Amino acid sequence: MSLLPRPRSQRSDPSAEPFVLESGTRVITSPEAATPARLLAEALRTSTGYAIPVDTVAADERGADHLATGGCPAITLSIDERLTPTPEAYRLTVTAEGVDLVGSDAAGVLYATQTLRQLLPPATWAPQASAQVWEAAAVVVDDAPRFAYRGVMLDVARHFFTVAQVQRFIDQLASLKLNHLHLHLSDDQGWRLEIAGWPELTGIGAATAVGGGEGGFYTAADYRAIVDYAADRAITIVPEIDVPGHTNAALAAYPELNADGVAREPYTGTEVGFSSLAIRSETTYAFLEDVFGQLAALTPGPYLHLGGDEALATPEADFRWFARRVSELVAATGKTAVAWHEFGASGELAPGTVGQYWNYVAPEPGHSEQLRSFVRQGGRVIMSPADAAYLDMQYPDDDSAGLTWADGPTSVERSAAWEPTDVVAGVGEEDILGVEAPLWTETVGDVETLEFLVFPRIASVAEIGWSERRAADWPDFRDRLAEIARGWSASGIAFHRSPEVDWLS
Ligand code: ACM
Repeated sequence: MSLLPRPRSQRSDPSAEPFVLESGTRVITSPEAATPARLLAEALRTSTGYAIPVDTVAADERGADHLATGGCPAITLSIDERLTPTPEAYRLTVTAEGVDLVGSDAAGVLYATQTLRQLLPPATWAPQASAQVWEAAAVVVDDAPRFAYRGVMLDVARHFFTVAQVQRFIDQLASLKLNHLHLHLSDDQGWRLEIAGWPELTGIGAATAVGGGEGGFYTAADYRAIVDYAADRAITIVPEIDVPGHTNAALAAYPELNADGVAREPYTGTEVGFSSLAIRSETTYAFLEDVFGQLAALTPGPYLHLGGDEALATPEADFRWFARRVSELVAATGKTAVAWHEFGASGELAPGTVGQYWNYVAPEPGHSEQLRSFVRQGGRVIMSPADAAYLDMQYPDDDSAGLTWADGPTSVERSAAWEPTDVVAGVGEEDILGVEAPLWTETVGDVETLEFLVFPRIASVAEIGWSERRAADWPDFRDRLAEIARGWSASGIAFHRSPEVDWLS
């Protein structure tokens, strides 16, 4: 019985009869667990072709025999806030009489449903119905995450991805108990979110992409559709507007954002570090107040990411001054600012600003100090060491997509072998909010390439973020990966069949 990420505890009695989902199986849910119940029923309806009705019944109104309705084993979902440790914890009990899923909150219930789907046959992930024995071995799983923040980043600036494509990606994240999707919404090559009062951001700024593609952008309604779809799947959207560098698309749209008042030419190449907002101009801050103010209003989650990386065209003293001012500007929206670790060059960030580390597993000089600066200023950190966690690094056996600058290529084993508390001295478990695997899209123009680079290495960040620390055990991880990838095959994910793993399908 192979689960990924590895749960805290899984107890089974090999002699116990399995649960078998039948045409009469019902889902019975308490009102608080109605969303994960609906999503589970929809998935099971699709893959089994059974009716799978959902009954919403308050937990205290259920009879003792609620697991067996009309002689057919049922699936019950509920929330019990006493379940420890909270939040996001769950207990999944699978017996021949039925399946019981209890979460400490709705996210915990959702994760119990994801575990149940990993226990059922791989065809449970298929987008069409097939005939199977829908059996799950009897087991009790008690589980909760190690880190509160388990994320993936998608760069929709270098290449644009549609709402439907992002929603498919969200389903994939949720299946691995990941709970944050960081959207990199602006860069030199494109601005991807409509901002009222600044129409040329999406007029001129969104019309480009790397390599000369057509670009694109999200309206406010599109963005909300992503946020709402994610929320149902216990995923928080973390929007990023990258400043003061990585801003050519905005600088092309509005001449007044440039220090010399001259609009830049749109850019479709892949160089970095050449653009900067005008740091000492109040127009820049009027612009940023509009952008981050509207972004805060559109975003229910607690974080706004303001970028801050590779501002090589911004003088150092200006950069530090900007870091204080823009972190305060974001904090004034009521959100917590997140910045790439270079912002730690400022010792005057808004208190609690979160730092995101993107240097290496073995840090180069200066980067650790910049990350520790966030902790000293009362913030926590997100670990994304580029040589292990960046999903856009090439694979060793296939150079058809991806980059190599971060000491790439990056094998699946290397993506799974790093430990967040071992990267930056002085930054320990309590300082670390969690982990994130970014996908930059210079070489990624379609969903097939996206899935090729993301899968299977996304499983590594899911396991590092969720599972309790233990000595790296590559053979164990690799074998569980092969098992769950049968579900990826069934669902049509174009994953990379790395020769490091003995794939089963
Ligand atoms: C980055 O890779 N420039 C955050």
